[in-house]
Amino acid sequence: VTIVFDEVNVFTFPHSRIKKLMNCCTSKFGHTDFTSLNDFEELLIGLQCIFTEFMAHEQIENHLVMKKLRKKLKQNSPMDDTELICNCHKVDRFTPLMALFRDGYAFIRRGNADRMSYGVRLHKAMITFYNDFVPHMNEEENGIQPLLSKYFTDIELKMMRTQVIKMTLKK
Ligand code: FEO
Repeated sequence: VTIVFDEVNVFTFPHSRIKKLMNCCTSKFGHTDFTSLNDFEELLIGLQCIFTEFMAHEQIENHLVMKKLRKKLKQNSPMDDTELICNCHKVDRFTPLMALFRDGYAFIRRGNADRMSYGVRLHKAMITFYNDFVPHMNEEENGIQPLLSKYFTDIELKMMRTQVIKMTLKK
């Protein structure tokens, strides 16, 4: 078992923020009355805002972490390690969800029953996302972080972590 201390772990800070935002989405859902147009619109706006941040998180990781790691791996790594990185963000998790949120606005002018059934669809999509994204974050923390620790010095990782935090807070 590799123990990676928090100060050199580039994933823990943004992931704890994402987990907080995921709880925020669940709570927004719980408090939404789908028969209320105001509630419904607020939910859609809130979800778009939160998922825009999730998309930014992936871009930050690609730019500040994965690209650098891939470069190191190319120089001196077995094929398995490269595969792990290359497949990590291969699936586009966000475009279909953002499209679903945008589609939701058409339901503002529709009846309650339509809005409720859209709500059920939305809820299912969110659960599918959580069930996929939580293991993804675990994979980064437990599979990719040890690779970072293998190929980068503690100083380099501390700098990388600082950049990640800075960009995360900027978004
Ligand atoms: Fe940290 Fe790739 O999500």
